Amino acid sequence: MKNKPVTVPEIQGRKAAAKKITALTACDFGFARLLDPTAIDIVLVGDSLGMVSLGYENTLPVTMDEMLAHARAVRRGITRALLVGDMPFMSYQVSLEEAVRNAGRFIQEAGASAVKLEGGQRAAETVNAIVRAGIPVMGHIGLTPQSVHQFGGYRVQGKNYLDARQICQDARHLEKAGAFSLVLEGIPADLAAEITAAVKIPTIGIGAGPACDGQILVLHDLLGLTDGFTPKFVKRYAELGALAKEAVGRYIDDVRSGAFPAREHCYQVERENWPIQRGENKGCGG
Ligand code: KIV
Repeated sequence: MKNKPVTVPEIQGRKAAAKKITALTACDFGFARLLDPTAIDIVLVGDSLGMVSLGYENTLPVTMDEMLAHARAVRRGITRALLVGDMPFMSYQVSLEEAVRNAGRFIQEAGASAVKLEGGQRAAETVNAIVRAGIPVMGHIGLTPQSVHQFGGYRVQGKNYLDARQICQDARHLEKAGAFSLVLEGIPADLAAEITAAVKIPTIGIGAGPACDGQILVLHDLLGLTDGFTPKFVKRYAELGALAKEAVGRYIDDVRSGAFPAREHCYQVERENWPIQRGENKGCGG
């Protein structure tokens, strides 16, 4: 029997039940199939796929069409977890109308159950317009990567008093606007704890400490598929990148040495009445 799909009210109920929410990103069908048999609650098709799948330097170049193509692929591999589509840069900032239309595309064209967008107080009206269209919205505050140029880099947010107060206000504005949950990214753990206690909707942390109602990571980071700088908040549960390189190296060695393909990798067919058996073979050209 298939497990029941995770719903938005179920995620909301986790806060009162004090049962931690688990969330991960996925960017294609293959990774979605890996996650599907696990107990993961939320699968986010995050715009971080721009960096881990598409090779962009940051998330800013990612378009709606790219996000929808990836979200559709993930949808085909996920049967149980709540699927959330991440609204890319410039898909919700220009007007409320565009924001609602683009949020609707994630639901209609990719089969997502909710969308996520970045921004606090200044995004509250947009969140509310999308919610009024019947689409659940996950907020995202703190270190919001689409504002990397405004921040001057990927820096922990809320370190000084005024910034911390603003992030608290952001959380309250999004809750009031109707967001069903909040991603808290790159903020001090005590600030995340304060916000988690202050709002009724669940908080999902990434680089925000243990007090959040749940945690999210980029799947590529968790699996050790990214190289270069690993942020402090990432725990690499495997080193699949190193394993993959080692496997490819062994394949290259085997092909070069003739060890692959071996007899067990070849089709052996019993042939009857072939000219070759009567010494009449004319070869491929004959
Ligand atoms: O794009 C993304 O992957 C995200 C999560 C890390 C929260 O926004």
